Amino acid sequence: MPGLRRSWTAAALLLGAAVAAATAAVAEDRFKPGRFPPDPAIEARIDALLAKMTLAEKVGQLRQGGWSPDFDLGQARNGVIGSLTNADDPFAIAAIQKAARESRLGIPILLTHNTVHGFRTLFPVPIGLAATFSPDLVEEASRWAGHEASAAGLHWTLGPMIDVSRDPRWGRVVEGPGEDPYLASRMAAAQVRGFLRGGIMASLKHYVAYGAAEAGRDYNSTEVPTHLLRDVYLPPFKAGVDAGAQSVMAAFNALNGTPATANAQTLRDILKGEWGFDGFVISDWDSVWELINHGHARDPADAARKAILAGLDVEMAGDMFKDTLAGEVEAGRVPLVRVDDAVRRVLRVKFRMGLFDRPDPDPAAAAAELLTPAALATARRAAQESFVLLKNTDGVLPLAAKGRRVAVIGGMAASPSDHMGSWGANGRQEDVVTVLAALRKRLGADTTVDFAAGCDGKCETREGFAAALETARQADIIVAVLGEPWYMTAEGTSRTRLGLPGLQQELLEGLVATGKPVALVVFGGRPMTITWAAEHVPAILYAWSPGTAGGLALADVLTGDADPSGRLPMTMPRHVGQIPIYYNHLPTGRPPTADHYSSKYIDEEVTPLYPFGHGLSYTSFAYGQPKLSSATLRPGETLTVSVDVTNTGTRPGREVVQLYVRDLVGTKSRPVRELKNFVKVALQPGETRRVDLALPMAELAFHLDDGKALVEPGSFRVFVGSSAAATLSAAFELVDR
Ligand code: BGC
Repeated sequence: MPGLRRSWTAAALLLGAAVAAATAAVAEDRFKPGRFPPDPAIEARIDALLAKMTLAEKVGQLRQGGWSPDFDLGQARNGVIGSLTNADDPFAIAAIQKAARESRLGIPILLTHNTVHGFRTLFPVPIGLAATFSPDLVEEASRWAGHEASAAGLHWTLGPMIDVSRDPRWGRVVEGPGEDPYLASRMAAAQVRGFLRGGIMASLKHYVAYGAAEAGRDYNSTEVPTHLLRDVYLPPFKAGVDAGAQSVMAAFNALNGTPATANAQTLRDILKGEWGFDGFVISDWDSVWELINHGHARDPADAARKAILAGLDVEMAGDMFKDTLAGEVEAGRVPLVRVDDAVRRVLRVKFRMGLFDRPDPDPAAAAAELLTPAALATARRAAQESFVLLKNTDGVLPLAAKGRRVAVIGGMAASPSDHMGSWGANGRQEDVVTVLAALRKRLGADTTVDFAAGCDGKCETREGFAAALETARQADIIVAVLGEPWYMTAEGTSRTRLGLPGLQQELLEGLVATGKPVALVVFGGRPMTITWAAEHVPAILYAWSPGTAGGLALADVLTGDADPSGRLPMTMPRHVGQIPIYYNHLPTGRPPTADHYSSKYIDEEVTPLYPFGHGLSYTSFAYGQPKLSSATLRPGETLTVSVDVTNTGTRPGREVVQLYVRDLVGTKSRPVRELKNFVKVALQPGETRRVDLALPMAELAFHLDDGKALVEPGSFRVFVGSSAAATLSAAFELVDR
């Protein structure tokens, strides 16, 4: 029932009523999530095509071009590229596809785009989606993203990005699921499933351990021992493959000295061998050429040969395959069977995605599928559920604004691009209702909303401070919208200082000094060291880059029409010097105590500012004692941990009930806590609900240095509560038999 595309004002009106219907039906699911079963008919059609293809045409299938307005359609017509990225205009896409179908063998082209958190309707940036702790909602958001991209003629997205990262200095944490492998795996599967249901295939990126970049510096090398690779960095990729991802993107980084683009261990042995992945592997942008910079290849031919022999199938953007691959095959240095296997993988995906059998979408019909009220309603709900209420003292939130004067301070409050976030795909600024516009409308005529920017996102000058402070002094309540502008939280934006950018902190201090109640809304894509704010500002709402409907969602939450129910997908440090700081660390021989010779700092706390999983609600929750289905379990069995959760406040709210486990003694030391399940429950005031959390014993597996998985009998302790600092616990034994 895709609705009509509407202007944002009309959409905003409609949304007032539509939020509850956020899961309104999109067109029927296009593809079934999960691994595609082997299909002999497809393989036979591939055999027939391969038999007709020249070596040049085969190499063409292994090349992905980049679209720009001066793109030469001859490339598609001559079959020299098998896929293309960056085109987002439905008419341009249709013209490219038409040209490809006119090529000698009529092989259609795979069209892709970075639909990372939406196509035209933008959802919160992926770290915000992870903060929802709601895989169902994230699947629904991805389904809309897939539906819109597919309506535009795309088949594929260069996402989801599922790099676990323990380092907020790395700007790309904004694109990912945060620090935890279990949450990341749930988010990976949810996004892949949603994209497929919406009509596009996913490309899991960046394979693998890109998020472990040394010193948080983008593109830097990573050193990750085998057991950690398998326990922390690989699981989301395995989950994504099992959910039906059809391509995997090799990362820019070197992993233990071998660039991921030419890493036979991860590409050929683990991904294709162990996991039986039968889609294709694509490089990242020009990363085959970068093998030369890595010091791993001598020249373009060496780079192309090393990449394809290691298991890479398609080169994105570069010319290494175009210029050298045929020569390498003719010289016998690259076996033709490897090239044929790579081409087969690309063609298999084209068949699976229906490119040979389904009519291409009508570009004139695309607009009606974009930015529909139902997609916007999902975006609004996803944003509401992504906001993390870090603290709320003195009842500052929700705003008691009626009939009073509210000062909104901070340039980002009125900046559509900072609501949209990086990788804005086909999103448009005019689609966005900013938080300033939304608050003005929501609070109505009897409430005055004054605005002063103070400064823009970078905040390099104090020029606007005096006016902003004067506006604040005139107000009863201050809403400060500060944090990272979108371009500081994206690819290539590693930071060594993680405080509020520029002079923002000084502006904030001035606002607090007015003595008026301040609610701080933080935009951004990573945990920042907002330690001063945590001590001095009564209410802090972490809002990420909230997307097209993010301003409306902020108005919902700030005014109390909706409850904030996001939880931190990454630990928030007090100071950059604590990084890497993550909750699932190993114990030490000298845990931090008052003793000088214990594992701590002499100049800073060892604890985080806010732990992983933390987030408040406008109501409060109480937990009963967790009960176990059994105190003794055998391998293959599943423990159920049950806990009564009560809404003890006066408002409805959502709690994320989290289950952590600790393996007390192991062949290798095990982390102090590991997230193993979570459930988001909506509770009315006074309501108590029994929440059952399953813990399959197979989830207790960990890896040894040689990569072998082990589920080890012994004593375990589970912790249940509302963050990684949960204290309620119970013990069980895993016995041999
Ligand atoms: C990024 C990828 C992205 C690609 C194509 C690269 O720079 O690392 O995540 O998909 O560009 O836009």
